[in-house]
Amino acid sequence: MLLQLEGIQKRFGGVTALRQGTLKVQAGEVHLLMGENGAGKSTMMKIVAGMQTADEGQMLWRGQPATFRSPRDAAEAGISMVHQESLLAPHLTVAENIFLGRENAQYGFVPRKRLMQEARHLIEQYGFPLRADMKVAELSPAGKQMVEICRAIRHGSSLLIFDEPTSSLSESETREVFRIVAQLKTRGVGVIYITHRLEELRTIGDHVTVLRDGQTVHTSALADLTMDQLIKHMVGREVSAVYQREKIERGKVRLKVQDLSRAPLLKNINLEVHAGEILGIGGLIGAGRTELCRAIFGIDSIDAGTIEVDGKVRRIESPREAVAAGIAYITEDRQKTGLALGLPIGKNITLASLDRVSRYGILSRSAEQAVEANFMARLRVKAANSQQLVGRLSGGNQQKIAIAKWLAREASIFLFDEPTRGIDVGAKAEVFALMEDLAKQGAAILMVSSELPELIYVADRILVMRQGQLTGELPGGCSQEAIMHLAAYKESVH
Ligand SMILES: Nc1ncnc2c1ncn2[C@@H]1O[C@H](COP(=O)(O)OP(=O)(O)OP(=O)(O)O)[C@@H](O)[C@H]1O
Ligand SMILES: [Mg+2]
Repeated sequence: MLLQLEGIQKRFGGVTALRQGTLKVQAGEVHLLMGENGAGKSTMMKIVAGMQTADEGQMLWRGQPATFRSPRDAAEAGISMVHQESLLAPHLTVAENIFLGRENAQYGFVPRKRLMQEARHLIEQYGFPLRADMKVAELSPAGKQMVEICRAIRHGSSLLIFDEPTSSLSESETREVFRIVAQLKTRGVGVIYITHRLEELRTIGDHVTVLRDGQTVHTSALADLTMDQLIKHMVGREVSAVYQREKIERGKVRLKVQDLSRAPLLKNINLEVHAGEILGIGGLIGAGRTELCRAIFGIDSIDAGTIEVDGKVRRIESPREAVAAGIAYITEDRQKTGLALGLPIGKNITLASLDRVSRYGILSRSAEQAVEANFMARLRVKAANSQQLVGRLSGGNQQKIAIAKWLAREASIFLFDEPTRGIDVGAKAEVFALMEDLAKQGAAILMVSSELPELIYVADRILVMRQGQLTGELPGGCSQEAIMHLAAYKESVH
């Protein structure tokens, strides 16, 4: 046995993150660690990787009791972790980020040339499409993820922990990560893999352990488990993994984009979203989907084209003007752009909609509390109370707050960029239910998603983008292949 955890407990002030964490991982296996947002997955792995220490319980490493006091300690024993939040230094090069650990002064004196050489060697060995001398700030999310992976494998570790490595990656980039995991496995490395993307599991995992409320509630071979059973272990109730859409009568056009262009990427985008409609936007990472949202929301100025809301052309040159036109934008990168990490949950939810929780300009605490409580319950936010700071929440729970913040405000057009990234299966269903409610009330919804099953089951129509252009339209319920085909191969129709 490579790693064994018994009765691990961890408290943060009044919050119990782990109460009974157990786990067994063998060399050469891929072990999935599953559970709802806030279940304690990242905390358990941070204890294994020496970033945090357990209050109670025992860890055996290769059969011997072990406690790692720092990530360096753990790395020397052969354990590395690829983190959920990027810990890279953006202004440094790929090579520097791979080898210059903040916790690791030993590389401080390595000559630049050798650093580059070693980085190149590592990159080549795994076949990453990276250049050692590039600045990390210039990389795509996928590129950054690969640097994180290189950092973790630089010591030739015998246990690698991936905390949601694919949540910001496209299909093809995800396959790349799978390829690396498979390579590690054949080299006898043990892999612990955390993900909320259920469709990934069968491709990659051997065993699965499920945490619920800080407690290990299930562990078995993946083959012995149906998807429904797995979900039930995670959320403690029956939830369907297949989304069912209610048919909503389509109303008039609420958002109309005509001939929108913005150099260098967006070219001649034409689209309409009707009241009551969920329009899906598919495509690979880098196809321009986020750029399209940013342009509509006035973050980036457009070179040409018009945006009409409810039949009127609106000049939208800033997010403020977009909000005034009734548009809400739930960003892809919610941690960085969507949230005030130093403020409590409640304030984050109501900040964008102060007008709704105040009377005659005076903030009503009871109205505020009602809004907070409603969203925290519906999205199953795991926190001590609404006064907890958002920065202290688990990754997925932060995402839920960012979504609640925009849902709480009155808007008639919603742009959702990857709405379910990092969110657990129970909350995903709830996010879709909330979107459906909005549509029923007459909102027009544009949803960007890299998760093909979501696009297919949730959207009424799907537009596919490739290299900044729309390449075609598909009906909801179409095949995954049809989307991939338009996303990757087909020539533009414009
Ligand atoms: N530094 C901290 N201070 C206070 N509470 C914390 C801290 N770190 C984690 N927690 C709490 O511990 C619980 C478990 O968090 P953890 O990050 O382990 O969840 P997770 O299973 O990784 O969830 P997700 O799927 O959302 O990433 C959460 O309720 C979280 O708010
Ligand atoms: Mg986590």
